[in-house]
Amino acid sequence: MLLPLQDVKIIEMGNFGPSTYGVFMLGDLGAEVVRIKPPPHPSRPKPGSEEYDEDGTAIPPGGVMWHRNKREISLNLRMPEAQQVFYQLARESDVVVEANRPGVLDRLGVGYERVSQINSRIIYCSVTGYGQDGPYKMSPGHDACWTGVAGALYLTGVSLGNLGNRRQRPEVAQRLVTHHAASHYTAMAILAALLARDKTGRGQHVDVSNCDSLVGIPYDPPDKFLAGRSPAWHLYKTKDELYMAVGARDERTWSNLCMALGKEGRAAQLHDESQWEQIAMELQSIFSQRTQRQWWQFFQDKDTVVAPVLSLDKVPNDPQVRQRQMLLDLDLPDGGKTQHYGIVTKLLDTPGQVRSLPPTESQHTNEILKHLSYSEAGIQELRTIGAVR
Ligand SMILES: CC(C)(COP(=O)(O)OP(=O)(O)OC[C@H]1O[C@@H](n2cnc3c(N)ncnc32)[C@H](O)[C@@H]1OP(=O)(O)O)[C@@H](O)C(=O)NCCC(=O)NCCS
Repeated sequence: MLLPLQDVKIIEMGNFGPSTYGVFMLGDLGAEVVRIKPPPHPSRPKPGSEEYDEDGTAIPPGGVMWHRNKREISLNLRMPEAQQVFYQLARESDVVVEANRPGVLDRLGVGYERVSQINSRIIYCSVTGYGQDGPYKMSPGHDACWTGVAGALYLTGVSLGNLGNRRQRPEVAQRLVTHHAASHYTAMAILAALLARDKTGRGQHVDVSNCDSLVGIPYDPPDKFLAGRSPAWHLYKTKDELYMAVGARDERTWSNLCMALGKEGRAAQLHDESQWEQIAMELQSIFSQRTQRQWWQFFQDKDTVVAPVLSLDKVPNDPQVRQRQMLLDLDLPDGGKTQHYGIVTKLLDTPGQVRSLPPTESQHTNEILKHLSYSEAGIQELRTIGAVR
């Protein structure tokens, strides 16, 4: 079956960040990915390097799931022999994706300038905290910092349950927000650069910054609806102590909600802030009369915007999630099963595919070196000197 990106060859030199997740999305769509595993750093552990059980078995689902559809080789790029292996891989690849601080890979002889001399069609995507330039470019970073610098942390920490209770201070997000934003930009930038290459015949250096990927988000003026102050954009507790989310912020769906709940008199007060607190209390008292399941059934034919708030453990068995194949039960080589997230980008004619499970550590070192025409003795020599594992 044709896969949308099946002829695209990617070298990934990332960690657990957005570079890895961005490449994961491209791998699901058919890109052939070789992941380069660095050796342990001589003086500092790499964050997110606990990818394997002690016996070398990858740990899905979590972060390691992101390595499905990838092959893995270890290369100690401090050694010229490993750099030669890299150059051979780069010669036949379309894309390099890396997530080191600016300049790190230049020092290892595999930076953009060097690699583009070897392959002028290479798309070399650097995914860093703050970008390739600017005063922060060398700062190490993680999600809490990028969301902070981008101003996005002032959008979290809102107490949705208390109307009128404006947040006083920022809060860290409980999800790795930047990972998701930047990984999508990474995937999109690579696809755009591939299309550009079709026109120019040249590759290019692509500079993705985690911080940039969030900077656009807080620009909108503070939105009273989104802050949960409006009764039309609000969470209501149900009889069984669960919640329903209401997002009826336009006139029609708000009016339909009011009609359905017997509050016709409130239908014209969507924007009347002086009434918001009172309306929310009235709706809360109605929502406490039925269970979450009963409300979900009740609203099915009311053409308004209401949905249950699911706890994370309920999501895998939600009928919509199942129907959309967003949780996959995959076979393990030992006969067991493992669960992975499904493929979000559903191309209905040429869909993506999970073709292989995450590799065990350096699983494909031999296979890849043989493909590059190394003999058994040559591979053994590379292992002996520590260029590969
Ligand atoms: C994540 C981060 C903070 C980690 O900091 P760090 O461990 O100091 O990593 P750096 O990128 O500065 O350096 C990586 C080191 O690994 C070495 N390395 C990387 N790949 C290697 C390989 N295949 N072989 C040998 N050495 C390798 C580099 O030489 C470098 O060592 P050096 O500084 O002694 O030359 C930093 O890499 C970073 O900001 N990355 C961009 C943003 C990011 O991805 N953040 C993480 C999101 S979870």
